[in-house]
Amino acid sequence: MTGKAAYYITTPIYYVNDSPHIGHAYTSLACDVLARFMRLDGREVFFLTGTDEHGQKVEKSAAAAGRDPKEFVDEVSERFRALTELMNYSNDDFIRTTEERHIRSCQELWRRIAANKSPKGRDNIYLDTYGGWYSVRDEAFYGEGELIKGADGEKMAPSGAPVEWVEEPSYFFRLEDWRERLLEYYSGGAVAPVSRHNEVESFVKGELFDLSISRTSFSWGIPVPGDDAHIMYVWLDALTNYITAAGFPDEDSETYKTFWPADLHMVGKDILRFHTVYWPAFLMAAGLEPPKRVFAHGWWTNEGEKISKSLGNVIDPADIVAHYGLDQVRYFLLREVPFGNDGDFSHRAMVARINSELANDFGNLAQRVLSMMHKNCDAQMPQPGDFTEADKELLSAAEGLIGTVRTELGDKQSFHEALTQIWALVRQANGYVAEQEPWVLRKTDPERMATVLYAAAECIRHLATICQPFMPESCAKMLDQLGVAADARDFTSLGRDGALVAGTALPKPEPVFPRFVDETPADG
Ligand code: MSP
Repeated sequence: MTGKAAYYITTPIYYVNDSPHIGHAYTSLACDVLARFMRLDGREVFFLTGTDEHGQKVEKSAAAAGRDPKEFVDEVSERFRALTELMNYSNDDFIRTTEERHIRSCQELWRRIAANKSPKGRDNIYLDTYGGWYSVRDEAFYGEGELIKGADGEKMAPSGAPVEWVEEPSYFFRLEDWRERLLEYYSGGAVAPVSRHNEVESFVKGELFDLSISRTSFSWGIPVPGDDAHIMYVWLDALTNYITAAGFPDEDSETYKTFWPADLHMVGKDILRFHTVYWPAFLMAAGLEPPKRVFAHGWWTNEGEKISKSLGNVIDPADIVAHYGLDQVRYFLLREVPFGNDGDFSHRAMVARINSELANDFGNLAQRVLSMMHKNCDAQMPQPGDFTEADKELLSAAEGLIGTVRTELGDKQSFHEALTQIWALVRQANGYVAEQEPWVLRKTDPERMATVLYAAAECIRHLATICQPFMPESCAKMLDQLGVAADARDFTSLGRDGALVAGTALPKPEPVFPRFVDETPADG
């Protein structure tokens, strides 16, 4: 290992009974941007994603498709691996819960939980009989009081999923005994945003039921150590992926020592409870450290409607990427909605962002400055003269941007705010160019024109460098056009030492963010 500060970030692992859609793409995109940001900021990053392949839901889907479960998950898992390529994610690992390393890790975690006593001196795991409501779609147990009534008066999970009565022998986890430790954990700021912190804290302060953590009525899962009649509850199995990938149970491995506890688990709000109640409690019970932070983001709707297979409005990431462009989609998803809130995907909103913010604001800024340098400065980076107050103001705003973005992304996971701040500089730079009128200076004062173009180009360099995590391909093109060397694109190059070098040959500029002219939605 390198001795650099480490950063371990994870996505939820995706259920393999489904095809990837925009919601899946969103969670991983947020992680990818942070992973890329942290790498450029000098950290040693481990970014994990993968597939959740056990449980009753998968067993049923495989049976419905007339397939052997293993063969079924092998095929469907590939769709999620393909998503990582389509969306240009920079994940360092792709874990599958059917892998040997994971089975070993889950069984060892179970053993440790079982071997330890709870804070009240009781066994953490005990055998009993479960009688209660279970939703296969949510893979979750529900108390009678949590259920809602469906259209025909039938009982349903709070998510609207069907429930069935389950009665079978089961091992239980003594969740209640971990209440105080969990509340202490939350008070350290582990759960974000604050609305989710409040939600989970009040849940844990309420009545906590012991959790059924094994099943006996089906077999597609990881056997409980010492009792093959039981398989582990799929959430206990799935959550453990985060430590498996870090090397557990080999706690002396460099990877484990470097990366666990994870810096950030990024999840959707629907799976908050699993990640902020059960998971830290399991880890504490096993004598392991809980993750440092869990951020639960909001949900997307499509043109105002809930996204669901039955409504036929599932957005396939491959369709929108083909229609609008990859970096355009990456930008839109993180700019459109304050991260943590719910958001709506609409063709109109997408086109508005592409045309006004990418094409008009950022694209035009770069294209104007680059083509003036190409035409009027012998296709070379111009030599600046002395900077005026106006130049210095722009340059110092450019130099200050990384600090702001570091706080917004690194500390707060506030993608939308980071982009707002970046765009404030884009607009300032456009204002500067409009005010300085380099096209007039070309005739009246070519030396001053050179200084203005240089200062604007230097600002674009900062913008393109800092935007790389959001739009890697487009920013790479912009940095190529500015003649920035491949090894001068990380954030240490944002200081004066990395400033653009006068005399560097510049290629003929090509627009990086074209306007979107086809006004038809992706599906029409
Ligand atoms: N397999 C579990 C996670 C186990 S992690 C130990 C799971 N998988 S999932 O495929 O159903 O969901 C994966 C992620 O996609 C979740 O973070 C979920 O919130 C997110 N989304 C699914 N639909 C979504 C939207 N419509 N909008 C935003 N994100 C949503 O849960």
